[in-house]
Amino acid sequence: MTYRIGVIGLGQRIAHVLAAMRAVGWSFEVAGHADPAPVGLPILAEAGIAPGRAFADEAALLAAGPYDLVMIGSPNHLHFEHLKAAFAAGYPIFAEKPIVRTPAETFALARLIAEKGSPPLFIGLVMRSMPIVREVIARVDSGALGDLISMDATEHLHPEHGAYLARNWRRRIEWGGSFMLDKVCHDFDIFGRIAGGRAGQVASFGGRRIFTPEQADLPRAYDDGEPAYAMRDAGWGSANDAFWSDMDVADHQTAIVRYDSGLTLAFHSNSHVALQERRWYIAGTRATLIADLVRNRLIVRGALSRGRPERIDYGGVTSDLHNGADEAMARDLLSALEGRAAFPVTPGDSMEAGLTVMAIDLAMSEGTVVDCRPMWSEYDSARARSPS
Ligand SMILES: NC(=O)c1ccc[n+]([C@@H]2O[C@H](COP(=O)([O-])OP(=O)(O)OC[C@H]3O[C@@H](n4cnc5c(N)ncnc54)[C@H](O)[C@@H]3O)[C@@H](O)[C@H]2O)c1
Repeated sequence: MTYRIGVIGLGQRIAHVLAAMRAVGWSFEVAGHADPAPVGLPILAEAGIAPGRAFADEAALLAAGPYDLVMIGSPNHLHFEHLKAAFAAGYPIFAEKPIVRTPAETFALARLIAEKGSPPLFIGLVMRSMPIVREVIARVDSGALGDLISMDATEHLHPEHGAYLARNWRRRIEWGGSFMLDKVCHDFDIFGRIAGGRAGQVASFGGRRIFTPEQADLPRAYDDGEPAYAMRDAGWGSANDAFWSDMDVADHQTAIVRYDSGLTLAFHSNSHVALQERRWYIAGTRATLIADLVRNRLIVRGALSRGRPERIDYGGVTSDLHNGADEAMARDLLSALEGRAAFPVTPGDSMEAGLTVMAIDLAMSEGTVVDCRPMWSEYDSARARSPS
């Protein structure tokens, strides 16, 4: 069948996802889109995909259905409104992460789904579809690592990427939520999946010490002469200069988490590094595992092994460091829509990942250790509402 798709928020992300869907052989047409200034058009054009009719807003787009899939790729503060509109229309939905932006929106969404149900809803936590991540989960589930005791993880972005975040809508709490919510809800989704329990206590330090006026005299060119901090079109709501923008989210942040299962996690992120890294180091009683998500490489060694570590190179490293994840997710999405397999992540997983990061952000802003239990009980009572 040829899928008839409606897009709300035709930005860079949805354009890349549509290109990945085309690359893995989906048959679809974009029937229309609602977006005041679609940043993704050049990416779509490059992929040879027509954007369909431009509608004034999501209500007009949805009224012109039916659609086999509605895709939501708007800035994070609009996700909840766009989800509600798409729920009312009733078509299957692919929505980008983070599913929503605040605890209040999360509780309201959980309540809405519990009371009224929702159409099939797939969230773009794309790391779930990566073969290396599936293998990490499989190793943990198999018991091969033993009991998970502690782990550390990193997300270190190149200065150009950090500067994009400092100029794009993600720089504002009111639009993006936070640095960690937008960037690493993926990782916290997987950590929650492997932890065997929810986050119990969290603490965090960080803030803005890189993309500030005080650092504005940093050199503005790479050592080969290419201009720095300005390469990518920063799109909707953008600012001109990474150092002089009205950014109010962090540009570096560390966090510690104790999960209810006992697993402890230290997380270190920075948006201006020369040596990029996205790495999980997981120490279990029976084995130790390193997932290097930049090099797409897994290393595992038994705790008492004297042999060489097992090493799996997944290859397919791409310049955007998604390393084929988008294509893998496109396949998962098609399988889910055709009823061949469940999508690897649920709306509930997405809400829990978001809430965990929101608790971390609260700990950073309040300078306290946050006890997550009240948050989880509010979430559980919201999602326990029975359908009316
Ligand atoms: N899963 C991933 O790996 C991944 C990667 C990048 C972005 N994302 C997510 O995708 C979403 C979009 O991010 P992006 O990088 O494409 O941003 P973007 O700025 O490129 O695109 C956002 C688009 O939303 C549009 N928009 C603004 N207001 C709108 C409205 N009222 N109605 C409809 N559209 C509106 C903008 O004009 C723009 O075209 C975000 O939620 C982001 O977190 C996910």
